[in-house]
Amino acid sequence: MDILMISGSLRASSNNSALLRTARTLMPDGFHGVHYDGMAELPHFNPDDDLDPLPASVVDLRTRITESAALLICTPEYAGALPGSFKNLLDWTVGGIEIGDKPTAWINVSANSTKAANAYASLRLVLRYTGATIVDKACVHLPVVPSMVDARGLIDDDWVRDGVARSLAALVAHVASAATIG
Ligand SMILES: Cc1cc2nc3c(=O)[nH]c(=O)nc-3n(C[C@H](O)[C@H](O)[C@H](O)COP(=O)(O)O)c2cc1C
Repeated sequence: MDILMISGSLRASSNNSALLRTARTLMPDGFHGVHYDGMAELPHFNPDDDLDPLPASVVDLRTRITESAALLICTPEYAGALPGSFKNLLDWTVGGIEIGDKPTAWINVSANSTKAANAYASLRLVLRYTGATIVDKACVHLPVVPSMVDARGLIDDDWVRDGVARSLAALVAHVASAATIG
């Protein structure tokens, strides 16, 4: 089963993207981390354009979401809010059925004293509009600083890696239990 991993940062040496790359190496058995890499190609959301034929980048985003068993999000905070490009991505999902009640978690890597609290409060609010099931047990705060990221772009800090593994375990446990009930 695929877990779609979405970074809210477009920065090449992003700590959030490093966390997701690391998560991909720590996936529990039976699960595969899929990086979403199309955020920069999405057009500005306009409800007038949310009609067939949709832009290919929007079709790709929605298809990837539909095909995933769960979502894992890591995003920075910009100016006390979600980055505009990431909010734009979320706007392309709000009116659709792709996210539905999909199990969704985030890992907050902010090393700032405010813990990017406004961005994550906003993420919770926006996800509520999509219908996503937020798996609270899997939503964790694991501060990451650039010195923790190695030359391969992976986090080599054991405490962070253990935290990522625990978050993923909670997320896939939710997926498994939802599949059993369903
Ligand atoms: C324009 C801009 C605004 C920012 N605003 C905030 C902020 O409001 N709160 C915060 O905690 N960090 C803020 N930051 C710091 C970023 O969240 C931080 O650099 C983070 O590491 C970026 O994530 P990335 O490494 O994944 O790209 C801001 C950075 C930039 C460039």
